[in-house]
Amino acid sequence: MISDNVSINAAGHLTFAGRDTVALAQKYGTPLYLMDEEMIRARIRVYKQAMADFFPAGSTPEYASKAFCCKRIYEIVAEEGIHVDAVSLGELFTAQKAGFPMEKCFFHGSNKTDGEIAYALEHGVGRFVVDNEDELDALNRLALEKGVCQPILLRVTPGIDPHTHKKISTGSVESKFGIAIQTGQALATVRKILTLKGVALQGFHCHIGSQIFVSSPFGTAAELMLAFLDEVRAEIGYTAEYLNLGGGFGVRYVESDPVIDYRERIREVSVALTDLCRQYRYPMPKILMEPGRSLVADAGMTLYTVGGVKEIIGHQNYVSIDGGMTDNPRYTLYEADYTVLNASRADQTPDFTATVAGRCCESGDLIQENVRLKKPQRGDILAVLTTGAYNYSMASNYNRVGRPPVVMLDAEKDYVAVRRETVEDLVQYDV
Ligand code: LLP
Repeated sequence: MISDNVSINAAGHLTFAGRDTVALAQKYGTPLYLMDEEMIRARIRVYKQAMADFFPAGSTPEYASKAFCCKRIYEIVAEEGIHVDAVSLGELFTAQKAGFPMEKCFFHGSNKTDGEIAYALEHGVGRFVVDNEDELDALNRLALEKGVCQPILLRVTPGIDPHTHKKISTGSVESKFGIAIQTGQALATVRKILTLKGVALQGFHCHIGSQIFVSSPFGTAAELMLAFLDEVRAEIGYTAEYLNLGGGFGVRYVESDPVIDYRERIREVSVALTDLCRQYRYPMPKILMEPGRSLVADAGMTLYTVGGVKEIIGHQNYVSIDGGMTDNPRYTLYEADYTVLNASRADQTPDFTATVAGRCCESGDLIQENVRLKKPQRGDILAVLTTGAYNYSMASNYNRVGRPPVVMLDAEKDYVAVRRETVEDLVQYDV
């Protein structure tokens, strides 16, 4: 199987984290998000250990909580002792409600409102990752009003293309995120920051994109960042304490995607950075990385009930499910690949090619086109694998469809981390 937490039991049903998915679908209803808590913890530990082994003390991963956000995940991340990246009042508030230590929070985002900045200052958010000069001015003003000096990193765009999907690529000079190095604007902003009393610059941040399989784009980013750090030191005399390389390591959605050894990739980045620091005679900064997808994606699976099979003779087959773009918009947005299995007949050889279609009034509401699977019948459970990242967090209520619950599976039990939205929930804001 594509992931080692997926298997088939004696009943011929698909299992996830050792549990019968058909039984879980019966118990909780569908659509249903499952999350394998042990796998999330194991992935966090790989990053944490690798970063402790290969980078200077004080280096740490931050979980990019946009990938999957609810109170429970912040509790898990807090227990595992790493930091988080939050990008909105909603994410900060959820973290805070979960009791996450706010000093371990990095506040990101390309347009932080005054209200969000004030909230983050009020609640002692550890560091801001400043995206632009207007934000810098607002943060400086609000920090001074509060009588604090807020630690920040400055987000810069290194100007590289990591060859991933254009909508999830963020490091080029034309990106809407950060301040460009290439144009000289980043250097000018550093000069300005050092004159401000409400902010304390701790270093720099870059994020080049998402779903990247090799370490070379990170090596290139590191080269460009070190050249920038060196320039800043030469021109202004400022030496960075932290270098944040962002997130972006890929995950395996389908068999043809490579298996990725995160520890090894992190080691490669460390080798590249060590060389560069030696070359520039630059003291190795503490390194931050912001994995989102690679901590949670393959810890997730979505279960659906098949409503019917439509065979358009001589054309196309559809398998119709009780969810779709409302719980997983990634095919609609990016034509993202997914592995789809008939969980009720997982032991039977695939004999049918079909497009898995969602229930929304939208032709583009598809989960995957032309997949091979055992031909389902109405009532069968369909499993879509590797849905732990950017599914629940990107879900919507289009067509007034309620969001599915998130059920966590730990070593002993299954439990609801997020309950199913009811029709009453759907009208609660209507006045
Ligand atoms: N750090 C920053 C500043 C980011 O913008 C992101 C993702 C991450 C870290 C985490 O990247 P990851 O390790 O998850 O690749 N909705 C898209 C992905 C957008 C990613 C946005 N930023 C998708 O479904 O593929």
